[in-house]
Amino acid sequence: MSEKWTPGPLVNSKAPGHSLLEVRNISKRFPGVIALDDITFTLKAGEILGIVGENGAGKSTLMKSISGALAPDSGQILIDGTVMELGDPRIISQHGLSMIYQELTVIPNLSAEENVCLGAWPGSKGFLKKNKMRETYLKVSEVLGSNIPGKTLGSNLSVAEKQIVEILRALVSNKQVIILDEPTTALGLEERTALKKIMKNLVSTGKGLVFISHDLDDVLDICDRVMVLREGRVVTIDDSASQTKDSLVKSMLGREIKKAKNMERNLRSSETPTIKIQNLHSSKLRIDELAIYPGEITAIAGLVGSGRSELFRALLGADAIESGSMNVQGVQTSWPKTVTDGIKIGFALAPEERKTEGLVLSLSAENNVALPNLSDLSMRKSNSFKEQVKKIVSQVGFDPAKLGVTTGSFSGGNQQKLVLARWLLRKPKVLLLDEPTKGIDIGAKEEVFSTIQKTIKEDPSMCVVIASSDFDEVSIYADRILIMHNGEIISDNQKGITVDEILSKIFLHSQSQKTKGDVEHAS
Ligand SMILES: Nc1ncnc2c1ncn2[C@@H]1O[C@H](COP(=O)(O)OP(=O)(O)OP(=O)(O)O)[C@@H](O)[C@H]1O
Ligand SMILES: [Mg+2]
Repeated sequence: MSEKWTPGPLVNSKAPGHSLLEVRNISKRFPGVIALDDITFTLKAGEILGIVGENGAGKSTLMKSISGALAPDSGQILIDGTVMELGDPRIISQHGLSMIYQELTVIPNLSAEENVCLGAWPGSKGFLKKNKMRETYLKVSEVLGSNIPGKTLGSNLSVAEKQIVEILRALVSNKQVIILDEPTTALGLEERTALKKIMKNLVSTGKGLVFISHDLDDVLDICDRVMVLREGRVVTIDDSASQTKDSLVKSMLGREIKKAKNMERNLRSSETPTIKIQNLHSSKLRIDELAIYPGEITAIAGLVGSGRSELFRALLGADAIESGSMNVQGVQTSWPKTVTDGIKIGFALAPEERKTEGLVLSLSAENNVALPNLSDLSMRKSNSFKEQVKKIVSQVGFDPAKLGVTTGSFSGGNQQKLVLARWLLRKPKVLLLDEPTKGIDIGAKEEVFSTIQKTIKEDPSMCVVIASSDFDEVSIYADRILIMHNGEIISDNQKGITVDEILSKIFLHSQSQKTKGDVEHAS
């Protein structure tokens, strides 16, 4: 490694408005789909360009075509005025483009500062200059307003921190154009705010940022301009200031969205809880009592890290607990020690991460929906079963005409819809859905919830429990809202509760815990 290593000009000299990225007439076809149809746009220095569109609109394909991960069929890409070789990610990266995927590339056994300086090691004759690295890390952290301690191991970073580390890395390696594909989807409120601030700071150094998201509030909040894609075409590209959430939705869908009506409430079908747990203790959970009743949608609302996913995993038998007792329909039952025990009791969990979900990407969509439902092939091939699959997928907003297509070729959001259809078809006693609408476009969210409702109406003995950090959707669709914070259930709301009320309950609880901690510390 050369002695002359410098961490790139941290503040770009490009004047605001200078064109950093030009995309000209990009088209890309997959068998049977025109994924991108003659896309043209420009990204300027100092701006955040938002890209929105329904699931399958072409957002990820466009970004992969720009970064070289995919070769588009035709068109031109220019970075800072230089025409790029299409489909060559190495050259495109060398010219200053960084694509940050949701599957992050932070190395678990390296520290944050090592991860940030990766690929630009400040070293001499093969030896790493730790001081230089530390200095660089502190400098970029300061520029972006990040406060992640440099020595934190990659494996101990939260998802938001990993995103930030990737952004810091892009800055150290002097990237000009940074693309983030749905970076905020897995984040809680506070982490989102922190990441958005860092994104703003980044463009104030003269870099250009492309931000893909289904969260239109976030998009309108931080983007200078927004581009709407529909079926592979640019519908509009305009200043955010002249857009509203409604106008974006209309461009995305080509129609007005059905307003979330006051959904008809489901009623508990029995006052005997299907599941009642007591004194659940684990490293992350402390729940005195929790009863789940049939016939209604119970939401567990909590910020990321509140213990929602841990609660689901403990119920399923996927994580060990310290103590706890479980009663199933009035009968004392031993706590599930393995997932097989949990499934026997009647739990099914659709976890947050599609990747670990067991979608077999080489199989057809139909087979993936059918997979855990029917191992008997002859049954799976029966017409009535095929009809059920068709019905459930169209209810979650997936085109049933595409059931024969290989799952790997669907967009992230459409894969998520298949996962949901799979579990709804299975009709377990207690369906646990962890962030069921994560990555699903705004047009399909309501369809997803109304499908869940229909499923319960058809079988009122079923319980559906949803973990969500989307308090808007929870307050509209859930019949009962339990609020979780720091591993405890802090409030049980059987009548409606507003988003502000949820937030203030969480805030008050965290304040009271802080005061309690201070008192204990003082005594
Ligand atoms: N490898 C592939 N093979 C075949 N078709 C593909 C492939 N990748 C994407 N497609 C198709 O291209 C279209 C655009 O998909 P893309 O993943 O770009 O959508 P998206 O806008 O990113 O959606 P989401 O919001 O769900 O992430 C879809 O019709 C998708 O099925
Ligand atoms: Mg995508």
